[in-house]
Amino acid sequence: METTAAVLRGGHDPFTIETLTVDEPRSDEVLVRMVAAGMCHTDLITRDLPPEFFMGPQVYGHEGAGVVEAVGVEVTHVSPGDHVVLSFASCGVCKACTIDRPACCFDFATHSMSGGRPDGTKAFTDADGQPVGSHYFGQSSFAEYSVTAARSVVKVDPSYDLTKLGPLGCGVQTGAGAILNSLNVGKGDSLVVAGAGALGLSAIMAAKVAGATNIVAIDRHANRLELAEKFGATTTLSVSPDELTGAIQEATGGGSDFAFDTTGNADVVKGCVGGLNNIGTIGLAGVGFGELTIDYLTMISGRKIMGIMEGDAVPETFIPYLAKLNADGNFPFDELIQTFPVAEVNAAEAASASGEVIKPVLLF
Ligand SMILES: NC(=O)c1ccc[n+]([C@@H]2O[C@H](COP(=O)([O-])OP(=O)(O)OC[C@H]3O[C@@H](n4cnc5c(N)ncnc54)[C@H](O)[C@@H]3O)[C@@H](O)[C@H]2O)c1
Ligand SMILES: [Zn+2]
Ligand SMILES: [Zn+2]
Repeated sequence: METTAAVLRGGHDPFTIETLTVDEPRSDEVLVRMVAAGMCHTDLITRDLPPEFFMGPQVYGHEGAGVVEAVGVEVTHVSPGDHVVLSFASCGVCKACTIDRPACCFDFATHSMSGGRPDGTKAFTDADGQPVGSHYFGQSSFAEYSVTAARSVVKVDPSYDLTKLGPLGCGVQTGAGAILNSLNVGKGDSLVVAGAGALGLSAIMAAKVAGATNIVAIDRHANRLELAEKFGATTTLSVSPDELTGAIQEATGGGSDFAFDTTGNADVVKGCVGGLNNIGTIGLAGVGFGELTIDYLTMISGRKIMGIMEGDAVPETFIPYLAKLNADGNFPFDELIQTFPVAEVNAAEAASASGEVIKPVLLF
């Protein structure tokens, strides 16, 4: 069948809206009609890399929400007509997958970031008969119709509004999961959140759910810090990285129990590590490149540094949990969303890059 899709043909090109042919679902795949798809910073990461890292023409998108059109013969957890949110794909058989840590799947790159199916084939074909990359995070949801890995597909309550739910598939799940799963922030804890974007603001909302009492938000955009306050931050900081440690110690009465970085900036991370108390833990989700240098004595006090993938979520249970929290009025992540018709995908990217929009969502 044919589908409209936003295709990236070069690492620094604009997205082009094209009509592609999409394969029938294989036995372990699900054909989904997308209603909406969130845009996450990771969709754009190819822009930050040297051209040789570009995977070739590709349909990105990894925060899809839609309706199941057809399922392969091995798929039993969803049926046509089900409302679904799409998340990352994982192998299901490695050690991480079998202990309920699929986001850390040892074969994550093959299943979520190889530009096609794990066997190397691609599900889209363009007007010239050339293959176009699919299965980004198992889903490539910047397409009205996409064949997705069964393990990416999470069934949700059909009474919820699908135009809001896509970001639960990555950004919101990562921010909230970092707090509730990875760091396991508790009542009365203090927490620093560096970067008040989609991940950081979701983390702040989750910290409020967890009962954290001292929540410090860091960003360089004043409008984002205002949002951080609205969603639960008790202190906001916009200071240079070398002033961070002192400012955090002052705001937390000597050092924070936890920190969560979404900036991917090594100097910000160093400032936050210095701002932890002796038994504090920092979680790193922001994607940075290059090295992070921390001196020995800072760590030997008992501090911990933890890398975080997708908030250590098991999407099958965590996404419905967050959707219910939202429906009950306790997790207003949908207030971060601004919608764009898919034809305006480049405007959505520009609005995200300028800091004006926290979470663009494309509508099909
Ligand atoms: N680990 C994971 O599983 C995972 C999942 C999703 C996204 N990510 C990554 O997380 C990061 C954040 O994603 P997002 O969607 O929230 O992006 P975003 O752009 O919405 O938010 C990042 C925020 O950090 C702020 N920031 C950046 N550098 C800063 C600095 N030096 N000082 C102060 N503030 C600074 C920006 O102003 C922005 O508000 C990205 O790198 C993304 O690729 C990781
Ligand atoms: Zn695995
Ligand atoms: Zn993402």
